[in-house]
Amino acid sequence: MRALRAAQHVAVLTGAGVSAESGIPTFREAQTGLWARFSPEELATPEAFRRNPRLVWEWYAWRRQLVAAAAPNPGHLALARLERLVPRLTLITQNVDGLHARAGSTDLIELHGNLARVRCLAEGTVYTSWAEGDTLPPPCPACGAPLRPDVVWFGEQLPQAALERAWAAASSCDLFLSIGTSGLVQPAATLPELAYRSGASLAVINLDVASAAEPRLYQLHASSGKLLPALLRAAFPGAA
Ligand code: OAD
Repeated sequence: MRALRAAQHVAVLTGAGVSAESGIPTFREAQTGLWARFSPEELATPEAFRRNPRLVWEWYAWRRQLVAAAAPNPGHLALARLERLVPRLTLITQNVDGLHARAGSTDLIELHGNLARVRCLAEGTVYTSWAEGDTLPPPCPACGAPLRPDVVWFGEQLPQAALERAWAAASSCDLFLSIGTSGLVQPAATLPELAYRSGASLAVINLDVASAAEPRLYQLHASSGKLLPALLRAAFPGAA
């Protein structure tokens, strides 16, 4: 709490756990995670899209519908408020659901893309609206090549500019919050460690962390939708 109040630059990394309380399934939880029910190799790789583009398109269309029916939860809203309470906050997310932007966060780096965009498989042109007829995936209006979700698949590079901004934030912040992520997917997973090694305090907020006794390291076993609003109220009484 003291670290939060004193921080000049807070960097935050979020994962699927932050959106769990909005009803969006996470990836790796034993019963409910998407990867417990679906195979990433069949749905989230360039090869999968080449093999069965319609199946991949329809899976992302289903996830897009889940997100459209969902709303930001108190965890997303607390992070958007926190951006206005500290001198600088950089929010780095692995989520493709767009809920941080809908909650009002503005200094936002979406490392894995966004479900609300598609791009031309051939030329890379990005579209935020498109028509869906009988042919799925829909053809690019400019060249006729298939459109694909504008998200990062396994085996693909992250957008370079986003990654560089994330490295810069992690290595220069004085407080790093890692929230609702299993920390298993690179390169995002190295960001908390980079921040800690660069001298920042590190707080990990997750349902499956154990407490640790290290200086500058706080492990908070809690749901983000409950803990983040409480943390804000405690650190900035009257303001949050
Ligand atoms: P995971 O599903 O791997 O991890 C979600 C984490 O959130 C778990 O550690 C849960 O304990 C925790 N959690 C669940 N509910 C929570 C809550 N209410 N509050 C706090 N924590 C909670 O999801 P990610 O780490 O985001 O990538 O997965 C990283 C990447 O793997 C995703 O971006 C996606 C996936 O494959 C791509 O598709 C490229």
